Amino acid sequence: MNGRICGTGSYIPGRILTNDDIAQMVETNDAWIQERTGIARRHIISGDESTATMSAEASKKALEMSGIAPEEIDMIILSTASPNAVVPCVACQVQEMIGAKNAVCYDLNAACSGFLYAYCTAQAFIRSGIYKTILIIGAESLSNLVNWKDRSTCILFGDGAGAAVVQADPDAPFECVLHSDGSKGDALAKATPYTKGLPEEAYNMTMDGKEIFMFAVKRIPEVVRELMEKLPICAEDVDLFVLHQANARIVEAAVKKLKLPLEKFPMDMHEYGNTSSASIPILLDELNRAGRFKKGDKLVMIGFGGGLTWGAAYLEWQA
Ligand code: ACO
Repeated sequence: MNGRICGTGSYIPGRILTNDDIAQMVETNDAWIQERTGIARRHIISGDESTATMSAEASKKALEMSGIAPEEIDMIILSTASPNAVVPCVACQVQEMIGAKNAVCYDLNAACSGFLYAYCTAQAFIRSGIYKTILIIGAESLSNLVNWKDRSTCILFGDGAGAAVVQADPDAPFECVLHSDGSKGDALAKATPYTKGLPEEAYNMTMDGKEIFMFAVKRIPEVVRELMEKLPICAEDVDLFVLHQANARIVEAAVKKLKLPLEKFPMDMHEYGNTSSASIPILLDELNRAGRFKKGDKLVMIGFGGGLTWGAAYLEWQA
């Protein structure tokens, strides 16, 4: 028994920060950002919005689509690197906000691969027979983490949340490959204020942009090939690839290596920037609501990010 996605939802904050707005804060310009990243604007939390409130709104939409009541959820797994509180975990806050009183709740952090890790973890709980109905969420308030004085990183990120309901279904195929490499953790890092005695720069977000770029372009094709070896299909048979939305150039370079049509790799980072673990479920929900999936479509979700972490999962659309 595996799980099928039976509902998706997303929440995007209303406040928009364009590249021109960022150019008022650091020395950069719209043309540079668009050419290097494909990002034109990002949405940023304001007022009472937080990782938890965005998650709750995305979850309500996913539940509404699935027709599943909050009390039926057995578990909430929420992926974030930018929680609005350390304790209680954001998943518990969401439980309270949506009335999922029977759910077991916890957060996980695998940076930009987090939603993929949450999806695979949900599948493992379903396959083992422990739980039947699991709400998975990817949500980030990266505007709280970013160093707004550092032009090499602050241009990249945005806020948002996406959610999916995964429910046990005897006909749902599932396969995945996941990887981590802690030896490359310095490529994208930020210490918490609770870690004392580090050099000043460690408390700001640091990123080796070239290393991340090369890592992603190498690992995306690798992980697609690895996943295909576990399946009775080849990459050409896949209808759509739902990739983490870090940077359009990363997607284009990886697709070139895979020798697949770019149209199979939809992108939305021009509107939202890189929303880390929220990017896959936001894109999934956009595509779903735009009617881009039909029953039986073969999909591959691919995540890659800090840790380093990366992986891919195969599913067939059932909703
Ligand atoms: N505006 C204008 N100039 C800039 C900016 C900016 N925002 N940022 C850097 N520059 C300058 C640099 O200072 C440098 O100037 P110099 O030549 O005088 O020293 C020049 O532009 C080139 O800088 P590079 O870092 O070499 O630029 P590069 O072509 O590598 O592009 C980028 C930088 C966009 C970050 C690229 O490395 C990249 O896309 N890396 C991937 C990183 C990524 O996607 N991270 C997301 C988080 S991790 C994840 O999601 C997996």
